[in-house]
Amino acid sequence: MRRKIVAGNWKMHGSKGLVRDLVGAISGQVGSGSLDVVIFPPAPYVSYVAKMSGGAVRLGLQNVSEHDAGAYTGEVSASMARDVGCDFVLVGHSERRQMFAETDDLVARKVEKVIASGMTAVLCVGEVESERESGEAEAVVERQVRQGLADVPTDRWGSVVVAYEPVWAIGTGKTATAEDAQAMHAAIRRVLSEMGAPANSISVLYGGSVKADNAAALFAGPDVDGGLVGGASLNAEEFLSICRCLS
Ligand code: G3P
Repeated sequence: MRRKIVAGNWKMHGSKGLVRDLVGAISGQVGSGSLDVVIFPPAPYVSYVAKMSGGAVRLGLQNVSEHDAGAYTGEVSASMARDVGCDFVLVGHSERRQMFAETDDLVARKVEKVIASGMTAVLCVGEVESERESGEAEAVVERQVRQGLADVPTDRWGSVVVAYEPVWAIGTGKTATAEDAQAMHAAIRRVLSEMGAPANSISVLYGGSVKADNAAALFAGPDVDGGLVGGASLNAEEFLSICRCLS
């Protein structure tokens, strides 16, 4: 049985006030059923989210270093994320691939560190608009999955989640159609199976302008196991509505 997950990626938004108000509003409403609700706040707020949530939500970092401890000013290691109670780490988000030059090889090294530290790696994949328009979307996503997960130990596939986020849908208000999302999720599951992974046990999430009014349709696909939510995760009612689609 695959985990159903709704995750909020706060990106570089947040304050102690937002944590207090937002996490305080959702904590009493989630966490008791089978749905995993995960919050990825900016790193400085992780412990405060944990405190305010009282265990109702699970925690993640939006990025970690491929290095362990060392002279890497400004970096945060996977073991530090684990140390403060994180269970998940986003790896290879399109904004990091685009703005911080993260390559498939670097992504693979980060996935390895996250899993070795006892957490679940959420591998983010997705095509840009020109790749969608030229018919290359599936080939691009297949490459990202194969290369990003190339070093996953055969006994650690339970520590992998994939998030399909068409780049042209992130922050734009445009989403993939439910049919296109399902088709890409099925393709991702096929690739995982070809890689020798227990594909039917790995959660594959959709991200890219998920809102309260489109989540149910997007999550209806048999290969869609939840969502990775950006903007809408910063509004308690909207985020709770999205969670209720899978509760
Ligand atoms: O990681 C999730 C994010 O990229 C999606 O953002 O605002 O389109 O839901 P948004």
